[in-house]
Amino acid sequence: MNKDFIHKTLCHSCEQSNFAEILNLGEMPLANSFLEEKDLDEPDKKFPLVVYFCKDCGLVQLLDVVNPEILFSNYDYLTSASKPLVEHFTKMGGDLSGKFIKSKNDLFIEIGGNDAVLLNAIKNKCRVLNIEPAKNVAEISRQKGIETINEFFNKELAEKIVKKYGNAKVVVANNVMAHIADIKSVFGGIRVLIGKDGVFVFEVHRVSDLIEEGNFDQIYHEHLFYYSLFALNNLIRQFGLDIFDVEPIHMHGQSMRVFVGKDKPISKSVTEFLEKEKDIGLDKLDTFLNFSEKVEKRKIELTNLLDNLKKQNKRIVGYGAPAKGNTLLNYFQIDNKILDFLTDTTPLKQGLYTPGTRIPIFHPDKLKEMKPDYVLLLAWNYADAILEKEKELREQGVKFIIPAPFVRVV
Ligand code: TMP
Ligand code: ZN
Repeated sequence: MNKDFIHKTLCHSCEQSNFAEILNLGEMPLANSFLEEKDLDEPDKKFPLVVYFCKDCGLVQLLDVVNPEILFSNYDYLTSASKPLVEHFTKMGGDLSGKFIKSKNDLFIEIGGNDAVLLNAIKNKCRVLNIEPAKNVAEISRQKGIETINEFFNKELAEKIVKKYGNAKVVVANNVMAHIADIKSVFGGIRVLIGKDGVFVFEVHRVSDLIEEGNFDQIYHEHLFYYSLFALNNLIRQFGLDIFDVEPIHMHGQSMRVFVGKDKPISKSVTEFLEKEKDIGLDKLDTFLNFSEKVEKRKIELTNLLDNLKKQNKRIVGYGAPAKGNTLLNYFQIDNKILDFLTDTTPLKQGLYTPGTRIPIFHPDKLKEMKPDYVLLLAWNYADAILEKEKELREQGVKFIIPAPFVRVV
C-alpha cells in the first residue's frame, strides 16, 4: 500500500457491498500516534473513522484502511506494562500448552506476540516463535531470548515458516485479528501453519461490547473489525476451518477466546454462544442503528460532569494513555484545558503527548506528587485492579471518574 490509507468498497469477508453506516466519528487522529514535543507545532494527521455493518455476512468493519506500515511499524504499546495482562497471558500460555503441547519439539507460534509475555512463560516447554511487525517491540522480544520474526504475517510468510520450522501445534493471536486488513491472507496463512491437527486460538474484542455496553472508545483505525461469533464463523468457514470452542473473556471490555481447527468435535458452547448472539440481535442491522444515540448520551454525561468540576476549579488528570482513551478524548473534545496530564506505566509513552488533544503523559509517580481532585480512568477495562492498586490515593480523597460502561465517580 503506497498511500496513507485506502477506502475499500467491498466487505473484507464476503466481498459484497451491501453496507449500512452505523457510526461516524468524523476525521480522527490515529489512536496510537502519540506526539513528541517537536511535533506539537504541526497539525495532527487525521483519517476518517466510520463504522459499517455488512448486511450480507454481519461483519462490523471499517472501510477506510490506514496503511499498516504507518500503524504498526513502530508501536508504543507493551503488554508487559499492564499487570492484569501479564497475569492473563501467562495463565493463557500455561493453559494452552497444558492442553495442546505434547513434546518439547512441538512448535507454538504467536502472531503479534508483542514483548513476548505469553511465549516467555512457556519457552521451556516447547519451541516458540513470535511474529511481531513492530521493529522496536520485536527487538524487546528478542532481548528476552525469544526467536522473533519482524514481519507482517500473511500466507506467504506462513509458507516460509512451515518450510523452515514445520507445522505448528498451536498458533495464538491475541488482540490482533481485528487489526489485520488482509484478513483472508491471515486465515489462509493460519490454515497453512496448523496443518492437519494444529489449533489456532485467539482472543478478540466482541461487537457486543459496543452494543450492550456502549464502549465506542474501542473504535479506532487499528480496529478494522468488531466481531460477533456469527460473522467470524462466516469468515472462518471460507477456509475449511471450524470454530470448535469459545469462551467469553473480560479483559478489554467484552472479548472472546476462540478455538479454531480442522475436523475437531464442536463444543456445545459454540452453539450456545451463537444462540445468545441471535437473542441480542447481532445478526440484524436494526440492533446497530441506535448505537450512535448511546454514544451521544455518554458524551453529554461525561462532558457535563467534567465542565462542572472545572467550574469549581477542581484539578483533573487522566489515568492510563490507552489507544481507546484517544478515541474518547478526541470525540468528546476533552483536551489539555480539561486534563492537566495523563499517567501511564508504559515507559515508551512517558514524555509524549496525546494525538489531537495534546495532553502530556507522565510516569505514574506524578500522581502522588500532585494529588489531583479527580482522576479520569481512561484504562477503564482494568478498573478493579487499578482501584485496588490506588487505594492509598483514594483514601487521601482523590476521586476516580470511570467513564464506562456508564459514567460514575468512586
Ligand atoms: P490497554 O487497555 O489497551 O491494555 O491499555 C492500557 C494502558 O494503560 C497501557 O498503556 C498501560 C496503562 N496502564 C497504566 O498506566 N496503569 C495500570 O495500572 C494499568 C493496568 C495499565
Ligand atoms: Zn460481508
